[in-house]
Amino acid sequence: MTECTQKLRGGMVGVGMIFDETYRPFFEHARAHGVYDRRFGLMEVELSGIASRTGKRAEAYRTAAQGAIHDFTSFVEPDSAGQLLQSDVDFVCVATPDNRHFEAAQAVLNAGKHLLLEKPSVLSLQELDALQTLAAEKGVLAKVVYHKLFDPDHKKLRTLVHDNVLQHVNTGYCTLLEPKSISGGQFAEWIQGRNPGTYVAVHYIKLIDFTFGGKLTSVTCTGQRGLVGPTDGTTWDSTQLRLIYEYEDGREAAFDIHTSWVTPDNFPGYVEQEVQFRFDNGIWNGHSRRRGVECTVEQLTPHDMKISMNNHYNGSFIEPHGDRSQRGYGIEVIERFVREVGYVEYGGPGDSRSQRLAEMQALTYNDLSADRQVVAAVQAMEAILEKHAAGQANCIVNVNEPNGGLAMYIPGQAEAEVIYHPAV
Ligand SMILES: NC(=O)c1ccc[n+]([C@@H]2O[C@H](COP(=O)([O-])OP(=O)(O)OC[C@H]3O[C@@H](n4cnc5c(N)ncnc54)[C@H](O)[C@@H]3O)[C@@H](O)[C@H]2O)c1
Repeated sequence: MTECTQKLRGGMVGVGMIFDETYRPFFEHARAHGVYDRRFGLMEVELSGIASRTGKRAEAYRTAAQGAIHDFTSFVEPDSAGQLLQSDVDFVCVATPDNRHFEAAQAVLNAGKHLLLEKPSVLSLQELDALQTLAAEKGVLAKVVYHKLFDPDHKKLRTLVHDNVLQHVNTGYCTLLEPKSISGGQFAEWIQGRNPGTYVAVHYIKLIDFTFGGKLTSVTCTGQRGLVGPTDGTTWDSTQLRLIYEYEDGREAAFDIHTSWVTPDNFPGYVEQEVQFRFDNGIWNGHSRRRGVECTVEQLTPHDMKISMNNHYNGSFIEPHGDRSQRGYGIEVIERFVREVGYVEYGGPGDSRSQRLAEMQALTYNDLSADRQVVAAVQAMEAILEKHAAGQANCIVNVNEPNGGLAMYIPGQAEAEVIYHPAV
């Protein structure tokens, strides 16, 4: 075996579904094979600590992993993340519920550790500003996971746009529907006051923002209640978000993103995902289920095994060469981040670290500094839904107008409520 002195120690805050699907296979693969990159050679990557509330899932994972993972330390409440940060970690991945990212992310950056944050990064530009300032002060990477940018279909879309084969987007719609088991089971504990838009529309907000560029100019949103929570409550079953963008030539495009987490559990796929983008000279139609396989097995599908499976995101396979593997773009995106950290720390002499850091911070697909319009859309959507639940439906948030960066207009009220003052 090749001797290796370069090592990165990783920590996790939150050990739920997404840990099982993407972080676990990444860390197990890295333990078995290391991470090799010509810029820094072979690097060991270990999962050295997990912070969670009770530690139950971390211990269950330790048992299930049967030695396929480093002997990590499990930190539990109170202050599980604080304890993790006092241990010897180089980077920390935060995968807590959507509205609990900021506190953990701030602690990670304050401790001078590289940060990988699950989507949606944070829920307001005020929080994003604080994280950006800290990352700059501490000289570390602060990145967010948007694995849909690594989906081969989305990479092809972006390539065609980049190469000007598809010219000038005009409109688009995207839909992502999650099963009821998400709202009624897995997230039941933290779903109060939440909405599926922040949880999953954000994938498409980023896809649109990253693929087509442009300036976000306004946000509107509505939604439905009554299944996950009371009809007049603050918890949403489904949401319909509309974003308007303006491009350099002064032309506009509108995007509608519909999401739900109350789709029947016997639905044939994990989640229903469909997009359509219309251009001056073309049209792009994508459907996550229809691109692939349909498989039915008595007693298994559709509950224990899905009829249409996404083998591109995160599939488990027996490779032709005999190994068992779990691979896909959901895992690739995490490996990519670790390579970026490896490059910063080991990709050359110490005195050029800041140059390498700046190079990695300039990657707009995942750097927090490039997440501003996405967070603006999320913050606007959250504010509009909050007003709606309080009895004032159909608000609109304008972006970067003289009143402020995010100015919310309420029907019947002349003055805007500014929810973010600086420019977005
Ligand atoms: N990239 C993706 O496609 C994708 C998919 C699913 C979820 N996510 C994101 O990942 C995050 C987690 O989602 P999930 O599906 O794993 O949720 P989950 O409910 O399965 O797991 C959340 C975990 O966080 C822990 N936790 C909660 N509060 C905590 C705190 N204050 N400190 C430490 N740990 C805490 C819980 O105990 C649990 O282990 C969410 O932000 C979600 O949007 C991303």
